[in-house]
Amino acid sequence: MNLTNLRGTAATLALAATIALGYATTSQAQMQASGPQWTADGQLVLPTGYHQWVFLGSPLTPHALNDGKAGFPEYHNVYVHPVAFAAYQRTGRWPEGTILLKELQLTLDGRASDGSRVEASGRGFFPGARNGIDIAVKDTARFKDTNGWGFFNFGHHAPPYAKTAAAAPKAACAGCHAQNATADMVFSKFYAPILEAK
Ligand code: HEC
Repeated sequence: MNLTNLRGTAATLALAATIALGYATTSQAQMQASGPQWTADGQLVLPTGYHQWVFLGSPLTPHALNDGKAGFPEYHNVYVHPVAFAAYQRTGRWPEGTILLKELQLTLDGRASDGSRVEASGRGFFPGARNGIDIAVKDTARFKDTNGWGFFNFGHHAPPYAKTAAAAPKAACAGCHAQNATADMVFSKFYAPILEAK
């Protein structure tokens, strides 16, 4: 290789490194802007603007199918912030700083004994009032005792929700996720149709 070629190769490598670094820095900056915010004493601040995040899915466990005793009879609307969604689509993994937010949404009261009602589209369950928020945050350093995820409850009631929340004890949340989740503490099988959509 002569000197000119060598210089050319070096320049190309330098350019590639700059682009790669720029890319990493950009996504880190984006994550910092849209990722979790913490109080000085380590509580998670309730994110804002989450209705503009990516909607992943909505498991539903109505009273009618749980002997009238569903713990969470609402729709479980799951959202993720766009930076983490894009990273997942690129790599198949949740990046550091991922926030998965589950907002509960009651079904409208129905006349039928199973709580269902009839609308123009047919008989079924239809979304009503918002009724609570649970959040999971990936931060492997902060939550190394619970497989790298922290779990937070901002209230199981109508808004306004709590503005900050301390991490829930392991037995309250992380234990069940560790035992039953699809991968990396998340029930991603329910969101795969959206996560893996091309
Ligand atoms: C007994 C098991 C169990 C416990 C305890 C539990 N979860 Fe979950 N969680 C689930 C299941 C199953 C799903 C997905 C299906 C659904 O929502 O019905 C889920 C979904 C979630 C999601 C959406 C992302 C995902 O992994 O699917 C969040 C966020 C979440 N849970 C937070 C919490 C928090 C916070 C607590 C504690 C206050 C908690 N969970 C306690 C079973 C559990």
